[in-house]
Amino acid sequence: MAEATLGGSAERVSFEEAGLRYEVDGEIATITLDRPEKRNAQTFATWSALARIGDDLPEQVRIVVVQGEGPSFSAGIDLRMFTPEGVPGQGSFSSVAQLDNTSFEQRIEQAQQGFLWLRRPEIVSIAAVQGHAIGAGFQLALACDLRIVADDVKFCMKEPALGLVPDLTGTKPLVDLVGTAKAIDICLTARFVDAEEAFRIGLAERVVSREELAQAVGDKAAELLSTDRDAATATKRLLQGARGRTLEEQAAAERVAQAARIKALFAVS
Ligand code: CAA
Repeated sequence: MAEATLGGSAERVSFEEAGLRYEVDGEIATITLDRPEKRNAQTFATWSALARIGDDLPEQVRIVVVQGEGPSFSAGIDLRMFTPEGVPGQGSFSSVAQLDNTSFEQRIEQAQQGFLWLRRPEIVSIAAVQGHAIGAGFQLALACDLRIVADDVKFCMKEPALGLVPDLTGTKPLVDLVGTAKAIDICLTARFVDAEEAFRIGLAERVVSREELAQAVGDKAAELLSTDRDAATATKRLLQGARGRTLEEQAAAERVAQAARIKALFAVS
């Protein structure tokens, strides 16, 4: 059994203990949140295991699917973190609140490593989301490049209702996808966003029935795998940088990227 290092401690836990399954089949890696009886609630161990998967991702992988077992994609952070006892071996918010700011921020940074790698240019990540995606669950879906959802999906950024901010890298992709005004509406009301709205505002690329979800994700993976790997990586890098550049800067970036592609394809060695 593969192991993951628990964030903030030297303890090592298996993927199973972290509530995950992880499989690699050729160019497709599949991560399954696998605590359906607790609606795939996430802990620091989950995030540490996700980071470990990112660190060790085999080079041949081009598609990473993130999905949840059972009725919900994920009910967010394990609510035991709010109790004095906390999550066994991982503490509680009242214990981490004793840390100095630097140590505390380092702890959050470790957790964020479980999410950030899903945007790597070399891969396309797809969240397959059914049922509830709350708090950390919503942010995990937002960490992926694409979201294909079941028609029973319910996204909710619960953090402000609990006195917290969303800190698992979800705020930027949310704003990028839906704009600041809609992001304020969604986060500061902590309301549910259903499938129809998610599709309409650009949170979801596609809505299908629950029964069709796995097939829809498989079809999208096959479509994505049909293009040239290096060109796909270079194109994703270009697209990711576009918002931060002027039109002229982006045009220049296109030239640089294309020169590299043409040389790779046609240069005589
Ligand atoms: N943490 C721990 N256990 C959870 C959980 C969570 N977040 N969510 C659900 N569970 C457990 C329940 O306690 C219950 O356990 P038992 O059977 O032992 O009683 C089991 O999962 C099933 O739960 P429900 O009966 O409530 O299932 P449901 O399908 O009727 O409802 C739900 C699903 C709407 C997701 C509901 O469980 C719920 O609202 N959960 C809490 C959601 C929440 O507030 N999450 C925190 C988000 S904020 C966040 O994530 C912060 C951050 O990143 C820093």
